[in-house]
Amino acid sequence: MDKTTIGPSTHLFPKPAVLVGAMVAGKANFMAVSWCGIASQTPPHISVAIRKIRHTLKGIAEHGVFSVNVPSLAQAAQVDYCGLYSGRERDKSEVFAVFFGGLDQAPLAVECPVNFECRVKDSLDLGSHILVVGEIIQTHVDQDCLTEGKPDVMKIDPLGYASGSMTYHGVGPVAAKAYSVGKES
Ligand SMILES: Cc1cc2nc3c(=O)[nH]c(=O)nc-3n(C[C@H](O)[C@H](O)[C@H](O)COP(=O)(O)O)c2cc1C
Repeated sequence: MDKTTIGPSTHLFPKPAVLVGAMVAGKANFMAVSWCGIASQTPPHISVAIRKIRHTLKGIAEHGVFSVNVPSLAQAAQVDYCGLYSGRERDKSEVFAVFFGGLDQAPLAVECPVNFECRVKDSLDLGSHILVVGEIIQTHVDQDCLTEGKPDVMKIDPLGYASGSMTYHGVGPVAAKAYSVGKES
């Protein structure tokens, strides 16, 4: 076994590349976020780790709501743009067409095939980042990304991000059937 220690790190793979949306000073603002994960099922919760300086965090703190938008590979350039530039210096309100669901201060990106509307449940100061936990109030899915009524990962074609190489990735082919292949070993 040849391993090298690389110190405490954040190199967990795969990471999603999503867009977190909030209303800041009356404008829709989206930021790229890869530190995002589902946190509970009933009721459903999601967590996003956001550096304290982010413009988006201001809107989340002010309104107590936000959105998580899952882009497909086709939106890689727009996601990167929202990760390169802050709403403090550039108006990002027209990068995506915006719609609203039940939470009127949680802007949703039309071009992203999956959108979650979230209400802040709690937040945890972890140092550089605030871990915001949101209850998922509603999920919007493009109809052509469903198979038998369920979101289909191959149709959504979600964008992934790899730290280290700092590259975007797509979803590969099916490797095995979950909750199943283990029964054979
Ligand atoms: C692929 C990618 C992933 C990112 N993930 C995060 C993240 O998880 N948390 C974070 O605070 N910033 C993250 N960023 C940086 C922010 O998206 C970036 O600083 C952005 O300009 C913030 O926008 P805002 O100031 O308008 O909120 C990421 C950037 C990229 C390109």
